[in-house]
Amino acid sequence: MNSLDLAFQLNGRAVKVSIAPDTLLVDLLRHVLGLKGTKIGCREGECGACTVLLDGQPVNSCILPALKVQGRSVVTIEGLTRADGSLDSLQQAFIETGAVQCGFCTPGMILNAKALLAENPKPDEAEIRRALSGVLCRCTGYQKIVQAVREAAGAAE
Ligand code: FES
Ligand code: FES
Repeated sequence: MNSLDLAFQLNGRAVKVSIAPDTLLVDLLRHVLGLKGTKIGCREGECGACTVLLDGQPVNSCILPALKVQGRSVVTIEGLTRADGSLDSLQQAFIETGAVQCGFCTPGMILNAKALLAENPKPDEAEIRRALSGVLCRCTGYQKIVQAVREAAGAAE
């Protein structure tokens, strides 16, 4: 299969790659670009483990052809860490509240929460639960995850 050129912004940096046309975004991120923070669960668009932000909106990268991000901006969990190496307030809050157990859902949870807080800096519990409803957590029972997002929202005051 012939390769095609793809250029996009990844975590604020310009990336140019040559890929097979059927490459999925999650495979480009993990296997070509080496960003393993984006997880693979179902590969069917059902569990949210593979969530990234595309132009600020959460998308399931396991069902998105990589060529669809041509000229656009992608943010992965690695992109949330600040330039000085410190953690984003959401990442910090997840750690402090015990919202991370096995951690498999955490990148998807945090990126969905990031998109929510960008649009709605003071969400209530129902709004948080709705925003995170596309991400499955098998460990935590969700309560601490919701609490982490609430605390991050408070910390952003
Ligand atoms: S791995 Fe993409 S939604 Fe489950
Ligand atoms: S912390 Fe294990 S799946 Fe959510």
